Amino acid sequence: GGRPTSATLHADTPGPVYDRRIFTQFAEHLGNGIYGGLWVADDKSIPQTNGFRNDVVAALKNLSVPVIRWPGGCFADEYHWREGIGPKAKRPVKVNTHWGGVTEPNAVGTHEFFELLRQVGAEAYIAGNVGNGTPQEMAEWVEYMTAPAGSLADLRARNGHKQPWAVPYFGVGNELWGCGGNMRPEYAADVTRRYATFVKAPAGTRILKIAAGANVDDYTWTETMMRVAGDMLDGVSLHYYVHPAGGWPPRAPAVDFDEHGWADALAGARRMDELITRHTAIMDKYDPKKRVFLAVDEWGAWYAQDPGTHPGFLRQQNTLRDALIASIHLDIFARHADRVRMSAIAQMVNVLQAMILTEGRKMVLTPTYHVFEMYKPWQDGTVLPIDIDAPWYAKDQFTMPAVSGSAVKAKDGKTYVALSNLDPNQANTVRVKLTGVAASGVSGRVLTAPAINSHNTFDAPDVVRPVSFDGASISDGALSVTLPAKSIVVLTLQ
Ligand code: AHR
Repeated sequence: GGRPTSATLHADTPGPVYDRRIFTQFAEHLGNGIYGGLWVADDKSIPQTNGFRNDVVAALKNLSVPVIRWPGGCFADEYHWREGIGPKAKRPVKVNTHWGGVTEPNAVGTHEFFELLRQVGAEAYIAGNVGNGTPQEMAEWVEYMTAPAGSLADLRARNGHKQPWAVPYFGVGNELWGCGGNMRPEYAADVTRRYATFVKAPAGTRILKIAAGANVDDYTWTETMMRVAGDMLDGVSLHYYVHPAGGWPPRAPAVDFDEHGWADALAGARRMDELITRHTAIMDKYDPKKRVFLAVDEWGAWYAQDPGTHPGFLRQQNTLRDALIASIHLDIFARHADRVRMSAIAQMVNVLQAMILTEGRKMVLTPTYHVFEMYKPWQDGTVLPIDIDAPWYAKDQFTMPAVSGSAVKAKDGKTYVALSNLDPNQANTVRVKLTGVAASGVSGRVLTAPAINSHNTFDAPDVVRPVSFDGASISDGALSVTLPAKSIVVLTLQ
């Protein structure tokens, strides 16, 4: 292999908390993200509880999903909450104009979403309708969900839920620069102030308000939003997708790619570091105390949709490459954990870089799912800075350090180290000097696969899955790890 990697783990200078909300999931009314992927009430042959499929819910519970963002995405800015409450037969059937032009039965509405949260054990991140809704409609939705008393609380009770729900996070629209209304930043910031005014939490509760943030490197957007509306906000979002093969529209295949496509996508994932650094610098100017968090509430790979799938459904397979895209992002968030206190990969089930794919009654866990599972100790752990000096991995015009990593002291008191080898051809030996932590043993798991595009299918669901790893050892206060090519290793120090 190439030259080894030298690293230092600074357990003696712990950083901020790695917020569990960085593992937020995003479920939009898009393709089979909700209908079919979660909600299967019309197919009783699929084992389910109150309409939600048991297999998917169990898999999500196993990830300790902290928060789910719903109902969009672009869908949110044309969603009218009143159409999704009350008897199902009376709910209007709409057209999902943004995603595939299919009918939207409104079978999953507010009550069903909170039932999903109950089953998964997650909190609500509601995206409100700024695009074609009114501040009144938004205010009444918040009241319907959270008010202990009043006509809307009575209506909620008549619809089956007497107790108010908690809405800890509320998005004031989505992508107001695009599908949320094609607004200019000044206008969007003013509109955000106006709508946010009417998002009111009942006494004794809090609703954190998150503004629709920038698209990729639109720093003017962040600047304007922070300057004009920052005082009224708790968070500002950022959306950035990895689009190999030249950007928008997505044209790169999810599975049928070569090493060029591998390196292109991983370089794209690494770009998140620069984006966060620069958006953060602007936020620091207006909010030096870092009161307002950056919510990277849409990220991940967006490829051409799989051949033969419904147009507008954004259905894509998920390979070992996606696992690396995920680990690279999660490591970047560790380096910015003081400002990035929420993120949401897009999306949870059957859409874009999904955790889970379903078809009828079949379900499969993706390589990305396994990364989220391996990084579970990061949830509310304390970031331990790790400096990594790795050799370069290069393919064509794409050049990057071959090793990505992050570390935490988890809530269970143990120290965890994640290391990814981005090089698909060569193993890499990493020597991590340990400062401020005494360890005598190490154990862990590795996620890798035979090919860069290895993936899991309904017929072969375990091609890419974590297995126990014996390539790490500790001696003389240092951790030595031999990372296989194209792999992710998560270690527990003992
Ligand atoms: O995640 C798919 C779409 O990407 C979302 O609806 C939108 O917010 C973004 O453009």
